Amino acid sequence: MKQGIEEKRIIIAIDGPAASGKSTTARKVAQRLGYTYIDTGAMYRSVTLKVLRQGLLDDIRRSPESVSDLLQDISIRFDGDRVLLNGDDVTTEIRENRVSREVSFISSLKPVRDRLREMQQELGRQRGVVMDGRDIGTVVFPDAELKIFLVADSRERAKRRYAELIAKRSDGAELPDLDALENEIKIRDNADAERALAPLKKHVDAHEIDTSDLTIERQVERVLDLALDILQDCR
Ligand code: CDP
Repeated sequence: MKQGIEEKRIIIAIDGPAASGKSTTARKVAQRLGYTYIDTGAMYRSVTLKVLRQGLLDDIRRSPESVSDLLQDISIRFDGDRVLLNGDDVTTEIRENRVSREVSFISSLKPVRDRLREMQQELGRQRGVVMDGRDIGTVVFPDAELKIFLVADSRERAKRRYAELIAKRSDGAELPDLDALENEIKIRDNADAERALAPLKKHVDAHEIDTSDLTIERQVERVLDLALDILQDCR
C-alpha cells in the first residue's frame, strides 16, 4: 500500500467561502502527504496589494483593462509559509483589511484571472499539490482527483477571523468588531459567488464538508481519508 501511495501523486482542490477553514486544512493535509500547499487566495491578495501600493485602484475601477500593465512585471512566489511579491515578503501585509476589502473586485477582472490561472496550473503541473481557493475544482484543475468544498455558518466563520485578528493584534491596536467582520465576510462571499468569471461554486463531484462544528483535526482527517481512498485505488 505504501508504495502505491508514494508512486501516485494527485491534485487535491479545496474550495469554499471566506474563513471556512480551507487554508489550515489544506496546509495540514499537504504536510501529512508530503505535498506542496498552494494558497491561491494569497496570489489574488498579492495582486491587490500591488494595485494599492502603486495607487492604481481608482484608475483600474475606471478602466479595468488597465490592470494588464501591472501584471506584466509581477512575480509571486511561495517560500515555505512566506509569500514573496517581486521578492518582497508580503505574508502579513496581504492579510490586512484594506486588501481584504478590495480583493474581490481585483479578482473579478479577466486579465488577473487569466494570468493567475496560468501560474497556478504551472505550479500544479507535477501534481502532488493541495491547492485552495474559489475555483480550483471548477476551473483551474477540473481534473483534480479529489475535490473538496468546505462550508461553515457565517457567524462561526466571523468568530474564526476574529480570533485570528486578536492573535495577531499589536499592543494598543483597535479590537475587531464581530458583527462588522461577519458583514464583510458575507459581502465578499456574495461578490465571489455572483461574479461572471470563475464564481465560487461547488463542482458536482466535490465532497462538501460543513466545518461549523468540526475541529481542525477532524476536518483534516476527513480530507485525508478521502485522499487515501483514492491513492489506494490507484495502486
Ligand atoms: O482567507 P480567505 O478565505 O479570507 O480568502 P482568500 O482565500 O485569501 O481569498 C481572498 C479573495 O481572493 C477571495 O475573496 C476571492 O475574491 C479571491 N480568490 C479568487 O477569486 N479565486 C481563488 N481561487 C482564490 C481567491
